[in-house]
Amino acid sequence: MNSTKSDASPHTATPVPEAAHLVDHPLILDRLTRVRDTTTSPEEFRRSVHEITQLMAFEVTRDFRTSPRKVSTPLDSATGGEIAVPIVLVPILRAGLGMLNGFLHILREARVGHIGMFRNETTLLPENYYCNLPDDLDQAEVLLIDPMLATGNSSSEAVKRLKENGARRIRFVCLVSCPEGITHFHAENPDVPIYTAAIDRGLNEIGYIVPGLGDAGDRYFGTL
Ligand code: URA
Repeated sequence: MNSTKSDASPHTATPVPEAAHLVDHPLILDRLTRVRDTTTSPEEFRRSVHEITQLMAFEVTRDFRTSPRKVSTPLDSATGGEIAVPIVLVPILRAGLGMLNGFLHILREARVGHIGMFRNETTLLPENYYCNLPDDLDQAEVLLIDPMLATGNSSSEAVKRLKENGARRIRFVCLVSCPEGITHFHAENPDVPIYTAAIDRGLNEIGYIVPGLGDAGDRYFGTL
């Protein structure tokens, strides 16, 4: 975890740890900047999160297995391919729901599980209140989604739930992360790659990412 890739991107305040895939693209930077802006309305916030998520899906699924599929074109036949793995999306409630529709727009056949967890604001530790997952997780590519990788406590706890339920191939996708969260998550789950659209400076004293975007759930749902 000490090795780094590069620090040349406007998406990261720090060098990129080996454990993280930084999904950086000018369109993502543009939408993420709107999402960070405190004057952005919930409507624009939601639209931008959907767009970032769709753009990230391209990179997150890059190595998904495909099987050949032969079709007839108006002129001849062509052998293309189709996604050959079941996909399960698992948002961590509540904020993870914000990234769900963007993924579902692209991954049309995906099924959806839910893990409900809230952060105890005193201990900063996650407390579970809900878990509903498809029963063939062992066959699936599982995308665990939560916009903020802050302490890494909730996401690590969610990975435990997924593994207890049979998941073998898990990827964690967030919008904004920080070095502390990446280090903690990777130490607990070295087999789970992290995809993030930005790596920020760090955590403040109450476990929020700085500069971050504030409380992702409140901003998405307009409950500020
Ligand atoms: N959860 C959020 O919504 N924002 C943070 O900065 C950290 C955790």
